[in-house]
Amino acid sequence: MIELKKTFSKFSPPPHIRRFLTLVRVYKLELVVALICMVLSGAVSSALAKILGFLTDVGFYQKESWVIAATPVALIGTAVIFAVTSFLSNHYFYKINQNITADFRKQIFQNMLRWPESSYIASNAGRLSSTFILEANFMLMTVSKSAVIFVRDLFQILFLSAMLFWVNWKLALLAVIVLPLFYVLITKLNRLIKTQMSKTLVSIPEVVANVRETFEGERFIKSMNAYDQARERFQKVNTALKEQAVLMVKAFGVVDPLTQTLSMTMVAVVLTVALYLTQQGIMSIGDMVTFLSALMLLTPPLRSLSSFLGTFIQLDLATKTIFDLIDSTLEPDNGKEPFVEKVKTICFDNVELVYPDTTDKALDAINLTVKAGETVAIVGSTGAGKSTLVNLLPRFWLPTTGAVRINDIDINQFDLSALRRNISMVKQDVILFNTTVRENVAYGTGIADDQLIWKALEEVNLRALIEQLPEGLDTHVGNLGDSFSGGERQRILIARLLLKDAPILILDEATSALDAENERLVAEAMGKLQTGRTTFVIAHRLTSVKNADRIVVMDHGRIVETGTWAELASREGEFANLLSLQALK
Ligand SMILES: Nc1ncnc2c1ncn2[C@@H]1O[C@H](COP(=O)(O)OP(=O)(O)OP(=O)(O)O)[C@@H](O)[C@H]1O
Ligand SMILES: [Mg+2]
Repeated sequence: MIELKKTFSKFSPPPHIRRFLTLVRVYKLELVVALICMVLSGAVSSALAKILGFLTDVGFYQKESWVIAATPVALIGTAVIFAVTSFLSNHYFYKINQNITADFRKQIFQNMLRWPESSYIASNAGRLSSTFILEANFMLMTVSKSAVIFVRDLFQILFLSAMLFWVNWKLALLAVIVLPLFYVLITKLNRLIKTQMSKTLVSIPEVVANVRETFEGERFIKSMNAYDQARERFQKVNTALKEQAVLMVKAFGVVDPLTQTLSMTMVAVVLTVALYLTQQGIMSIGDMVTFLSALMLLTPPLRSLSSFLGTFIQLDLATKTIFDLIDSTLEPDNGKEPFVEKVKTICFDNVELVYPDTTDKALDAINLTVKAGETVAIVGSTGAGKSTLVNLLPRFWLPTTGAVRINDIDINQFDLSALRRNISMVKQDVILFNTTVRENVAYGTGIADDQLIWKALEEVNLRALIEQLPEGLDTHVGNLGDSFSGGERQRILIARLLLKDAPILILDEATSALDAENERLVAEAMGKLQTGRTTFVIAHRLTSVKNADRIVVMDHGRIVETGTWAELASREGEFANLLSLQALK
């Protein structure tokens, strides 16, 4: 008994498959209908064996005339019932499955939006996007297809076996002897296929990631004439995928011929005995035909049952990937406080930050208080920690020690979305979404009024340009906004931020990639954006921060100097160094 239990527990599905099955349970009604249909289709196809046997005895030997009319009715009738029930069971299974997969994709996507920065760094866009298609669609689709066949075949095997036992149980026992052999075969192959399949599953996203990378770096590759290198890099993942796939199909390929041989052995043994019994007059010819048809009908489901092995492994691997993503840690969002009515001060209080998996402090003993409406410039050599400092404000990263406070309230206490609604950020690379100008300007602002959108575009000097486009606000900006120049893209972003109207503004190297004319236009728009807002400006080109109320100089994660341009320039400190480096002194 204990032995039996042990064997049985070996069959109990892995935790993620069990979790998947609990999700299936939500669709009880559909599941019941699908199962009933499967039982029916399994039963009907097994009944075929009995009908054939019956027709042989009654029609062939007893020469009953009504059988001639009854034959097509019975056969076509069974075919129709089989067709209808198969269709319905397929339909409902797919429906359940597609509901679950769509829900998986939704959950993964929602989670991804709320990932902490560290998860984005650890992840890979190509690999992640391929999960949406590969695991959360194709693999689960195969599962539902096979599940239908699996359950139907299982019932069919049960019915047909019952039929065999009913007709002649001794002969049936003979047929059943091969079953343990099937079991041994399947457990042996299980591990082999699983290993091979998981290797292939890693290779597919690699290819997707590579294509994506190439697409994004297309201009770089062209300008560097790096065709050969790009091709080689791709060919490497491409070949790896091919080799894994060939090995996987090889592993799979063993299953079918083996089961085929086993089932044919079974048929051969049983048929020999059955023929003997019939010749001896122990068994009627009708029974022989029933037995033979049942056996013949039994081999295809037995074969397909063995192919379910691969499906089960697919389910195992796909659900693992999916649940891992669904369970991924999200960025902490425990703050409950609404944002302050009016920003009075922003204070960095003894802030330190050590990035995960590093030992050096990217920020060290940062103490800085900024008053409302003030423009603070942050300067310093590359890697000094300027971006890190401002990234603390929207809680992209949390300080390792110390706190950032707005009006003396630790920003961790604010509701995360309320905090972010009150901060606008402009970086050097502006990526527009692949949609209309209107949606791009209004993105995330909650504003749908064309009047306001035009007004914002006018403020950034883009109204004339957009107006002369044939479709105006409905113009698509193209992939990542490629149809606009860098400066134009930046001004679209500024228009958006004017609409967003947040009291805190962060400009991180916002103008460093622009030419003089564009810079003038962007600077003008930026000036409008800064009016009345508390602003942090990070700039390499020191002339662009000449008018800042205060300049903070950073070096190796520390603030080494603060003061106005005039104050700092007159000292022999780090700022004076930077000035002389840029030949401004
Ligand atoms: N996600 C990260 N994980 C680990 N280290 C990081 C991470 N981001 C930045 N760093 C490190 O922290 C330090 C400060 O980086 P930061 O981006 O703040 O510099 P920066 O002053 O903005 O430089 P730049 O002027 O080049 O933009 C650098 O040494 C950088 O390598
Ligand atoms: Mg930076």
